[in-house]
Amino acid sequence: MLRIGLTGGIGCGKSTVSLLFEQLGVPILDADEISHQLVQIGQPALETIRDIFGSEMLLENGALNRVALKNLIFENSLAKKQLESILHPLIFQEICYQNDLLTAPYCIVSVPLLFETHSESLVNRILVVNCDEETQIERVTKRDNLPLKQIQSILATQVSATFRQNHADDIIENSKNNALAEQVKKLHNFYLSLSPL
Ligand SMILES: Nc1ncnc2c1ncn2[C@@H]1O[C@H](COP(=O)(O)OP(=O)(O)O)[C@@H](O)[C@H]1O
Ligand SMILES: [Mg+2]
Repeated sequence: MLRIGLTGGIGCGKSTVSLLFEQLGVPILDADEISHQLVQIGQPALETIRDIFGSEMLLENGALNRVALKNLIFENSLAKKQLESILHPLIFQEICYQNDLLTAPYCIVSVPLLFETHSESLVNRILVVNCDEETQIERVTKRDNLPLKQIQSILATQVSATFRQNHADDIIENSKNNALAEQVKKLHNFYLSLSPL
């Protein structure tokens, strides 16, 4: 099945766009959601994390201590690589598995860090949601109630808007007043025309 990778910077509107595709009946596979499920209690990936990084990565109830893990990989790029090498193949595998169960003309695979995690090969086309940085910061400030400094440090870990645009097959422009639903509908028709089903 045709897989459209949906990506874009924080606050650019990926979730909003994803919902619009969903409303058109398009199945959505979400890499973040899957990675969340992979580290639930009882999942082998959680045990691997504990074995490699120590039991301080778990809370008292045995669940993942997200804050501890986040702090660890923030400070330690080797740990970050190790964590990615545990999770990425499992995320890939799960997306392929779920994808095989679907019978739609195409699906959207939402991978917020598609470029940053070098996951381009997971999808057949790349759809980037773009918005100008001012709007992006404004939306994240409002949505997540984060200080500007923290938003800027998140932005610094992500590829630039220019990089994304240069590597996109399709782009949705989601700065102010951008008739989002119409852009999605147009792309939907285009993706249907590309689908072999
Ligand atoms: N076109 C738009 N007009 C107004 N608000 C928007 C628009 N697109 C997104 N938003 C709002 O901006 C915030 C970020 O959008 P979201 O879809 O959550 O971004 P992402 O998933 O890329 O981080 C959300 O609160 C969302 O409701
Ligand atoms: Mg989102």
